[in-house]
Amino acid sequence: MRTVALSLAALVFFGSSAPPRPARDDHGSAMSALADVRAAVAEIVRIEDGYAVGHGAYLRAAHRAMNALVGRRDDGYAPSFGDPGDGIGTLGHLDRMLDQSGSSLWTPAVEGAKANVLAAAASLQSSLGQKEMEDYEADLTQALASLALVVGRATETGVLGGLDGALANTALGVPAGATTVSGCAAPNRAPAYGIVAGRLAYVALPRSSASAGIPNGFAVSRVEVAPAWVVLYAPAARAAIALCRAGSRMRRMRAVAAPGAQPPYTAAQAHAGSAIYRRACLQCHGADLQGAAGPAVAGTEFLTNAQHNKWTLGDMRTTVFENMPFSNPGSLAPQQYADVMAFLLASNCYAAGTQPFPTAAAPTLAKVKLGPIHGARLSNPRLGTCSVR
Ligand code: HEC
Repeated sequence: MRTVALSLAALVFFGSSAPPRPARDDHGSAMSALADVRAAVAEIVRIEDGYAVGHGAYLRAAHRAMNALVGRRDDGYAPSFGDPGDGIGTLGHLDRMLDQSGSSLWTPAVEGAKANVLAAAASLQSSLGQKEMEDYEADLTQALASLALVVGRATETGVLGGLDGALANTALGVPAGATTVSGCAAPNRAPAYGIVAGRLAYVALPRSSASAGIPNGFAVSRVEVAPAWVVLYAPAARAAIALCRAGSRMRRMRAVAAPGAQPPYTAAQAHAGSAIYRRACLQCHGADLQGAAGPAVAGTEFLTNAQHNKWTLGDMRTTVFENMPFSNPGSLAPQQYADVMAFLLASNCYAAGTQPFPTAAAPTLAKVKLGPIHGARLSNPRLGTCSVR
């Protein structure tokens, strides 16, 4: 005996063959939770249908339904009556899903389901103390109503959807080990689950086995038939696709401000422009472009203001070419204006490229929106500017 205990301890301490923690399978837990609810409902319905008679039979049904809901670890569990469920109970399964630190898109629905399980358990508990058949039946009816909310509806997303809603519309519907793909693109394989930010957009099933593969409780909002597979869209598909569109719009917007779709100017222009700035602009806009008699023309203050006023590079060009220097507008040559524009862009941390800043007005400049550049490597973090060499 002693040797066995020692070697077990050694295994635990040196860990090499400690049993792996079971993988999280929220989908499996949700399905088991539903199975326990169905077992509880079956007990109640059987008695309400009048198959059984007598006080003892009623008590037994209520106890068994309770056992299926709360599970063996709960004080309300009455072992002598038997358990039509799996012993873990709906509550046990839901707690397992919720007891993780992170929250998912389905968390509110599962929390709502848990509240309704507790309500059903309270009704069952109350029924156990009733003397009149009428009161007993009223309690069971109440319990059934609560359990209907636990199951929920596949066509409803969010809290109102209950477990079926979460399974049909969120990543909770994906069985362990199943293939998931981005729900933003059309499917390129089957079977696969299309997911967008935790939402279930579609299930793609091979055509040969499509009818057999429809997930339990899945509510189909639209069907698309391709040569090799069938795509079943979930009720949440519309919301998921809207998210995809918003996502690509954001990426396009970011691309405008990203290097590449940058304002045109070359490093040589910026270098030449720095001398012009010192001679014709510095007295009013400051040695660090921070502003003096005139406003800031580079850095956080300028770019935030420019973004707020929706200035384009074309607007900035007009100001500089036509109104500056404030004391002597239009006094520089076009090339000098273009060079000083390049210097301002470089000081604002836009990246230099191969296209020079044009000497003449160009309609494309109106397409470049000015604003703070994310991830810029600032040489002066306080002002938010970049130095030009
Ligand atoms: C005599 C002072 C003075 C000089 C010199 C001067 N500016 Fe200005 N600048 C101003 C004033 C004042 C404003 C604000 C004008 C307004 O709001 O109508 C301004 C506005 C600007 C703006 C718009 C910034 C904003 O936030 O409104 C830019 C860009 C600019 N100047 C660039 C230049 C450049 C480039 C030069 C040199 C070629 C230059 N300025 C020379 C006084 C000056």
